[in-house]
Amino acid sequence: MINRETIDKIMETARIEEVVGDFVHLKKRGTSLIGNCPFHGEKTPSFHVSVSKGIYKCFGCGKGGDSVRFVMEHEKYSYPEALKFLAQKYNIEVEETVETVQDVEAQNARESLYIVSQFAGNFFEDQLWNTPEGKAIGLSYFKERGFREDIIKKFNLGYSPDFWDALTQDAVKNKHAEEYLEKTGLAIRNDKGKLYDRFRGRVMFPIHNFTGRIIGFGGRTLKTDKNVPKYVNSPESDIYHKSNVLYGLFHAKKAIRDTDNCYLVEGYADVLAVHQAHIENVVASSGTSLTIEQIRLIGRFTQNVTILYDGDAAGIKASLRGLDMILEEGLNVKVVSFPTGDDPDSYMHKVGAGAFKSYIEDNRQDFILYKANILLAEAGKDPIKRAGIIRDIVESIAKIPDNIKASVFIRECSRLLEVEERILLSELNTMRAAKLKKSSTSSARQPQHPDLPPDNLFADDEAVVTMETMPDDELQEQEIVRLLLAFGHELVSWDKIDNMYIGSFIMQNLTDVTFENTLCKKIIDHYRIEIENGQLPTANHFIKSEDRAIADLAITLSTSPYTLSENWYNKHNIYVRDETVNLKATILGGLYHLKKRKVDRILLDLLKEIKSENDATNQEILMQRYAFIKNVEKEISKFLGSVIVK
Ligand code: CTP
Ligand code: MN
Repeated sequence: MINRETIDKIMETARIEEVVGDFVHLKKRGTSLIGNCPFHGEKTPSFHVSVSKGIYKCFGCGKGGDSVRFVMEHEKYSYPEALKFLAQKYNIEVEETVETVQDVEAQNARESLYIVSQFAGNFFEDQLWNTPEGKAIGLSYFKERGFREDIIKKFNLGYSPDFWDALTQDAVKNKHAEEYLEKTGLAIRNDKGKLYDRFRGRVMFPIHNFTGRIIGFGGRTLKTDKNVPKYVNSPESDIYHKSNVLYGLFHAKKAIRDTDNCYLVEGYADVLAVHQAHIENVVASSGTSLTIEQIRLIGRFTQNVTILYDGDAAGIKASLRGLDMILEEGLNVKVVSFPTGDDPDSYMHKVGAGAFKSYIEDNRQDFILYKANILLAEAGKDPIKRAGIIRDIVESIAKIPDNIKASVFIRECSRLLEVEERILLSELNTMRAAKLKKSSTSSARQPQHPDLPPDNLFADDEAVVTMETMPDDELQEQEIVRLLLAFGHELVSWDKIDNMYIGSFIMQNLTDVTFENTLCKKIIDHYRIEIENGQLPTANHFIKSEDRAIADLAITLSTSPYTLSENWYNKHNIYVRDETVNLKATILGGLYHLKKRKVDRILLDLLKEIKSENDATNQEILMQRYAFIKNVEKEISKFLGSVIVK
């Protein structure tokens, strides 16, 4: 565990604009810095950095946090990894303390798996370059296939000797525990309890996680014997989860970001070949069909995927479905197919690096059109088959979340399929409606905030409608929390109040209010407890909360004035223009709007109750209560009116 002092020092030193600035081009706008969000593709910047608050927030995708959070999200680091990364950036010495035995054990166990994997990586590499068997068999194999030495070295390729337990013996001799050899799958225990190597007589491809640590291996046989499996792979382990690993990502991530595109191939050999053609933004799904985690992993770096296919028709048709999943994630998909019988690797070696590069640049096609062409060619003139294709294509288009993009495809496919645009559109809308219906019945309505992108609110009425359909009091409640976070520490003297913190003032005025929204309630309750203990919590207190949901909400609400748009204020006749100018109106307005909302709700409920009450006496009692509360409501309204006038 990194000790508290070190963490504090890192937090103090790591300036948000510098940390983010290493990855995002930031421009000044008003009091904050803005740039294109690195977490989702966008052309107009909605990613804000607040230097004074030390936080970032994207109003497009909702991501937000402090420097450490940014590094964790962006580099996919764990919390301690992110701290260490920042410590290194700022030359801060990291002091670690021991927390609990379990912590240390879990940490150590994972670390041991990494260490033994790295040891094995070194062992295989050493075998390849420095032993007669490795050189004669492994290295010469790679060279025969046309791989250059720099590529072989870059990917740390290796060779496992054709011997029962070469690695195991060497590892044990070097004091590596058998337990970790087994847990990484590098060694297997036989019936007699003896350990032997998983990989024997194979060329070795280490698999790196995206921070560059070895987490597993793929071993390719050199035999042509059909009974020998071509690849033997590491099993899943605590450090290797196949579904969220992409082979080559560590070596590709920078180039993917720079070129804003990711080439996707099938095999290890393809990754190497494409690299050798000086194209570094390439990863492989390694045999398994592409998973949603892998797609999202790519999505962190770019919104553009180009699939490099073998020219084998059966394979292409099988994978068309899988590609819809990429569309659904909002990524743009292009494909390049190679001549029949070739895959990227064989084609590169056949035509050479330069010609290969031009080939993929000249032959990339948009996936939807590519799919339409393939299916059309297959259907020929058969009208029934052609009708099926239309559905199939529109189904893919319906997966595209972006309406503008979808309509472009509709237009192009209308031309290609010789079907009126109108017909395709109506098909599209039917599919979307069906999908909407399905998702709205399957999941209960979720409260929209705090991830609702507030930028939208500036623009159109549609977003305002969303606000109004939000759970009843949530917005007013959030407004109170926002006011607490923004102004809690300001000292004010208003009328009969003398030198009081706004935080205390608000809390005193909330004693008769019940919060509906659980998150807001948590924050309010916590605030109250702190005040009762003589502390006035700061916004940072909540922004840094260990409760992720609280931290997220605090960040969203702290990045005012984007929280509530001016439009919204206008629409609801709320008075405030610059809220800091008339702080009193802002605070009282917030409080009394919430109260009015609560009172309105009580009135409504009472009215319902009165209507359904048959007993005259009971009805009378309810009416009296109604009149009383109606008076309170009037007072509140009057008060709000007077504040508005000021
Ligand atoms: N694969 C696997 N097990 C197999 C075959 C394939 O795990 N028996 C995975 C490997 O990750 C491989 C990928 O699927 O890289 C693609 O398979 P293939 O194209 O056959 O492998 P290449 O790496 O291209 O190997 P080569 O060109 O040397 O045949
Ligand atoms: Mn291949």
